[in-house]
Amino acid sequence: MYSEKFTESLRKVEAAREANIAYEPARMTAKEKEDLLAAYHPDYKKEEFEALQVGPNQGEQVPHELAEMLQAHSRINPDEIDLAHPDYDVDVLVIGGGGAGSSAAIEADNAGANVMIVTKLRIGDANTMMAEGGIQAADKPNDSPAIHFLDAFGGGHFAAKRELLYKLVTEAPEAIQWLNDLGVEFDKSADGTMVTTHGGGTSRKRMHAAKDYSGAEIMRTLRDEVLNRGIPVVDFTAAIELILDENGHASGAVLMNMETRELLVARAKTVIIATGGAGRMHYQGFPTSNHYGATADGLVLGYRVGAKLLYADTLQYHPTGAAYPEQIFGALVTEKVRSLGAKLVNADGEVFMHPLETRDVAAASIIRECTSRSKGLNTGSGCAVWLDTPMIEKIGGEGTIMARIPAMHRMFAKYGIDIRYEPILVYPTLHYQNGGLDITPDCMTTAVENLFVAGEAVGGIHGRNRLMGNSLLDIIVFGRNAGKNAAAKSKDVAVGKLTLDHVRRFHQELDAAGIHNDAISPKLLPNYTRHGDTI
Ligand code: FUM
Repeated sequence: MYSEKFTESLRKVEAAREANIAYEPARMTAKEKEDLLAAYHPDYKKEEFEALQVGPNQGEQVPHELAEMLQAHSRINPDEIDLAHPDYDVDVLVIGGGGAGSSAAIEADNAGANVMIVTKLRIGDANTMMAEGGIQAADKPNDSPAIHFLDAFGGGHFAAKRELLYKLVTEAPEAIQWLNDLGVEFDKSADGTMVTTHGGGTSRKRMHAAKDYSGAEIMRTLRDEVLNRGIPVVDFTAAIELILDENGHASGAVLMNMETRELLVARAKTVIIATGGAGRMHYQGFPTSNHYGATADGLVLGYRVGAKLLYADTLQYHPTGAAYPEQIFGALVTEKVRSLGAKLVNADGEVFMHPLETRDVAAASIIRECTSRSKGLNTGSGCAVWLDTPMIEKIGGEGTIMARIPAMHRMFAKYGIDIRYEPILVYPTLHYQNGGLDITPDCMTTAVENLFVAGEAVGGIHGRNRLMGNSLLDIIVFGRNAGKNAAAKSKDVAVGKLTLDHVRRFHQELDAAGIHNDAISPKLLPNYTRHGDTI
């Protein structure tokens, strides 16, 4: 139900609908995209970034909010931690209970390792659970991993680490098969073949989905598998510092019980960071589609032991975050809505971009409508444009919305908006960190032995922009690889004397750089308290 202030614009959108369905806007040229991004994409706002003063990426630009966390003090005093009597002693320690961490744990368990998951919330409280639109894999006869590679490489501005992207696309069909065999209920035709759709920047229909709750379905299955296998999961327990051994190899973590604040020590032969993303850092004040715990913890943990970051200056703003009503501000409106035919239109009912441009281009186009073109609508919480969802049923036939995107229908129906008959208001929302820790194709960090990374905490798989459906894919491909490789590596590891000297050294570096603030990290949870209390 929309208030009267939207009536005039709604009339224009409705009046233009038939013509807009028929209208096929041109794709932008490479030059047009470059200019658009430079002018409107948040990654290009120089004043929102600063150079790091300490650590392996010293001199490189990152968002202010991330710089503060990377250059903050530890939550622990190393002198107070008893490293000689660990509370846990395992082969493989997985930090993070989302899709990547769970996949890693399952494969480490398969390989016979003694593996344990620690997670600051509960297993499954993760961005994986929030993913909607689908997971890419080139497994149809008209497609190939080579075409998938080209789409993703171009979409990522030719910046992806080729060897990581190669792994992603070549192992994608097997990843789908693995999930299917574990019990994921993918959308299938009557003959049993997978239903696939386009996403922004894909030249073939290779998006596999479970309606528009693909991530929830995948996470449900992975969580069941972890629990059925009896893999230990220590929940409500955050990793707050990595532990090295005397040889400088990753050898465990200091853990903190989120309720009691009790500190615990986990000793491990190998460690996997699978802590996910950073939407709750609210870079540049953006709302987010991410889960409550997405605070870049893995980047902080890795950075403090000397692991390098790659592309930490690039974030993904999903073009279609819900902009109205306020109760769902920033929530994800899946790109699948556009795959099914809905177009973005401005306050005057004009289509202003091709519906399947890549995400960075689509987000920048919306911001342009709202700023220099003054063609957005004021929702009360900010500016927005229309996503004309009623087009979907006109194109795909009655029933398409309930069959393909029922979660979207439910999300808006709660507030009296029926997306079958009324368009919705959207604006970019902080969705994904393109950058993260630098790894080799075997998932080990380039700088720290026995420290593995998987999922959104990795940088470089997607370059400087990710295509839809390649994140659910990377958590599976790199999660599985991290688990297998960390388990294999653990067989040859003899852990030396444990140490937290790197924390002392990091604090000295901060002092030497003249960084004297009260910030502590990792952040663990966003701070939404009125009085600024921290946990
Ligand atoms: O739009 C979406 O459904 C999001 C998918 C993704 O980030 O891969």
